[in-house]
Amino acid sequence: MSRVEVFVDAAGVARAAADAFEALLRERGKDGAVLGLATGSTPLPLYRELVRRHREEGLPFAHATSFNLDEYWPIAPDHPRSFARFMDEHLFDHLDLPAARRHIPSGLTPVPGLAAACQDYEAAIAAAGGIDLQVLGIGVNGHIGFNEPGALPGSRTRMVELDDSTRARARGDFGGEEVPARAVTMGLATILEARRILVLATGPDKAAAVAAAIDGPATTALPASWLQQHPDVTWLLDAPAAAAR
Ligand code: F6R
Repeated sequence: MSRVEVFVDAAGVARAAADAFEALLRERGKDGAVLGLATGSTPLPLYRELVRRHREEGLPFAHATSFNLDEYWPIAPDHPRSFARFMDEHLFDHLDLPAARRHIPSGLTPVPGLAAACQDYEAAIAAAGGIDLQVLGIGVNGHIGFNEPGALPGSRTRMVELDDSTRARARGDFGGEEVPARAVTMGLATILEARRILVLATGPDKAAAVAAAIDGPATTALPASWLQQHPDVTWLLDAPAAAAR
């Protein structure tokens, strides 16, 4: 069952999501929470709030482990638009989460070794005990991670082709440079194994995808609609993102 909470603005969404992270981190303590993380503009206010709570209130990440959803392919980790760099800039450089326990799919693994690297990523999640709390954004086309329309609910970590619409939206971020045509992403089945999922959506351009994902049928045409089959999903929406329901 999906719960839906609507806030007046993105700051409300960020605070509610940060509360869920804080509760988990404090409850797990030294046993170490396993966090599933996303990139993109939507989680930025959440990451700012987590950094603030770490700095000002001592919220500890020292025992946590993290797994990011996805990475462009091919891309070097120090490329300004890589998700590895994004995470360093916006979160990891400001927390005490040990580097050895931060995981992001590699954007540089050559194709011959890629399937094995993807299996290793799945194995690392399992070895950490599975993801306790996964944060997701949603694409305007309903993608989660880089599981674009057509992705199967049983999909696992793998290389995917990005939708033209996804690449077009990323074009501004990449300046004049070409947006990678492919990515490595956790699969829908990988995401659906997280014990708890928070989907964050803000702004009017997400409203149609949000309404269809929550209220429409579960369909491969809209990857986020498979979240209906998860037992513990909370949608945290600002009013514009909730407006089409
Ligand atoms: C990011 C990711 C994507 C984004 C989605 C929304 O790791 O996997 O699914 O969550 O594209 O992006 P923003 O938040 O930039 O609108």
